[in-house]
Amino acid sequence: MSAPNVPRQLFVTTALPYANGNFHIGHIMEYIQADIWVRFQRMQGSQVNFVGADDTHGAPIMIAAEKAGKTPQQFVADIAAGRKPYLDGFHIQFDNWHSTDAPENHELARQIYRDLRDISAEKGGSLIEVRAVEQFFDPQKNMFLPDRYIKGECPKCHAKDQYGDNCEVCGSVYAPTDLINPFSTLSGAKPELKSSEHFFFKLSDPRCVEFLQKWTQDGKLQPEVANKVKEWFSVRTNPDGTTSEGLGDWDISRDAPYFGIEIPDAPGKYFYVWLDAPVGYLASLKNLLDQRGEDYNAYMANPQLEQIHFIGKDIVTFHTLFWPAMLHFSGRKTPNQVNVHGFLTVNNGEKMSKSRGTGLDPLKYLSLGMNPEWLRYYLAAKLSARNEDIDFNADDFLARVNSDLIGKFVNIASRTAPFFTKYLNNRMPEIEMTLFQGVAPITANTAGFAVAVQNSVSIRDAFESREYSKALRLVMEVADALNKEFDGFKPWVLAKTADTDPIAKKNLEQICASSMAGFKALALFLKPVLPELISEAEKYLNCEPLKWSDLTLPIDPNRFIPPGHKFGEFKSLMQRVIPEQLDALFAPPAVVEEKLIPGGEPIAETISIDDFTKIDLRIAQIVNCEPVEGSVKLLRLTLDVGEGRMRNVFSGIASMYQPEDLIGKLTVMVANLAPRKMKFGVSEGMVLAASHADDKTDAGIYVLHPWPGAKPGLRIH
Ligand code: 2FM
Ligand code: ZN
Repeated sequence: MSAPNVPRQLFVTTALPYANGNFHIGHIMEYIQADIWVRFQRMQGSQVNFVGADDTHGAPIMIAAEKAGKTPQQFVADIAAGRKPYLDGFHIQFDNWHSTDAPENHELARQIYRDLRDISAEKGGSLIEVRAVEQFFDPQKNMFLPDRYIKGECPKCHAKDQYGDNCEVCGSVYAPTDLINPFSTLSGAKPELKSSEHFFFKLSDPRCVEFLQKWTQDGKLQPEVANKVKEWFSVRTNPDGTTSEGLGDWDISRDAPYFGIEIPDAPGKYFYVWLDAPVGYLASLKNLLDQRGEDYNAYMANPQLEQIHFIGKDIVTFHTLFWPAMLHFSGRKTPNQVNVHGFLTVNNGEKMSKSRGTGLDPLKYLSLGMNPEWLRYYLAAKLSARNEDIDFNADDFLARVNSDLIGKFVNIASRTAPFFTKYLNNRMPEIEMTLFQGVAPITANTAGFAVAVQNSVSIRDAFESREYSKALRLVMEVADALNKEFDGFKPWVLAKTADTDPIAKKNLEQICASSMAGFKALALFLKPVLPELISEAEKYLNCEPLKWSDLTLPIDPNRFIPPGHKFGEFKSLMQRVIPEQLDALFAPPAVVEEKLIPGGEPIAETISIDDFTKIDLRIAQIVNCEPVEGSVKLLRLTLDVGEGRMRNVFSGIASMYQPEDLIGKLTVMVANLAPRKMKFGVSEGMVLAASHADDKTDAGIYVLHPWPGAKPGLRIH
């Protein structure tokens, strides 16, 4: 810990989200957890750099970009452009938001790798090793296949269509090479086993093992996390389900094509996304410091600097083994704390999975006009320092926000402020000092404020150790004491005789003073959680931005709000949650969205230009058109596509067109469709027409018609 008066230097991060989707409520929870801690630290005088970034690399993003018809760079830029409404909306105040594809990250990742590769012989030699690895290769896509893109028949129970690493039917675990009739989910092709050189980080090296055994057990991790990590030093599970002793080496390379960072001196080889992802923390920090004209190396070299990561429980290995080892053996500073949180479930529902954050859509929450600070408060009231799951429960949310936040905290100001304006000239009276000695009994007129003083250290400690739920419990204890005291004094009764009875006037002054001093203390305690609300409270209190040192012991209440201090104009601070808002939040995505599906069916899967060119579309002239006897739907068309012969085509457009209206017109046909034998004859192609997927709608059917000038036989490109 820093010496007195030297502010703590903190570098704080949250896990970098994959840039292949929008934030879900799980991300927002983590950011709120970290944001509260950062705001608390700033109120303590600490100097904090709080950064995030998009985690942009890897095969899934590359493939998603291809499907979307974008370059990976454009794809991740589009995702990044959507981040702001979430962060601003929930008052999550990162100092910088960057990208793992930024130049800083390329440089830093490559330098860290070089430092690990080039460790001198005296220091035990290189920690990077190259080995041949046999892996499935998709001959059509011309790429090695990550396990998740291989499917086949389970070797145990013979269930079809199972993933490359485990069977969802019988639960057995195996290697992708064990699958029967494997196929690539990207192309459908049969994958081939192919050997390729891979780069490994030698985590099994005794230097790494010795370092990590110490590093993971010396207080940087929560006890339950440290215990779990301990197990990995004795056994580990292999991809085929067998177990091995101790830490395994880590495969850090992937072959082209890959969206990632090229490995120095190894053309066609890229860092596996998890190698460069955490380096993104440093890259975002460096980018921030560069913008401010500060020196990154000097900042990182400060021995007082504390590096703190907030992460979820699913990415502990990366942050407690690979990341500290990479940093340490490349001669860099290692993290001081890795704070792990559990998952968030919604209404006792499913885990907020990474790929589909179901349940509570953060932007929908905001669009319904729900106050972001309700959510911040509610999540804080559930969060502890332990790695445990928490549940968002709609009823509980309503009760906590309405009864604690509004009914207890906001209530103190809303019931006290009118007495100030009406009877006290909106100014703070002097508080009787004698009543502030020690903790007064609840009957004394300073008791509420005294509880604030008494709890202030525990509240601070609880925030410091991320025990937010405990902090808020202690804060509500203070609010309870203040409300009880207010009720006990019955200022509304005192006010009736305050003009004529000096004792009543004195008591009215004292209860109002105690209540408002207590409200100010509560505002201070709640500021990390409720930045906007407290900024409004500060305006009313007409005070400087609240900071923790405003409440240093021993507290002089007449310094906390000096006698004679004038308050601002009181405005309602916060609305209550109404049950209908929660109903709307959890209402299933309505019919409205279904209606938005164009033409009644979603856009089909992306195809390549090669797929498109397989279809030979030609301008055709309708030289004749007649009804089909025995069919109400069909018309028989005689088409000229400039081949020197006529084609016979049946088309289901009789409900829309009179045959004579079509004769002589141009249209578009699929000219290379295999001829189809129908009840009324052979159809030698297909005329293009637009219609709704649901033919029960009265959307109609419309034959395509080219602009004037087109000639029969021209191809559509
Ligand atoms: O699990 C994930 O969502 C990763 N994108 C987290 C990366 S954290 C850090 F290493 F960048
Ligand atoms: Zn099986």
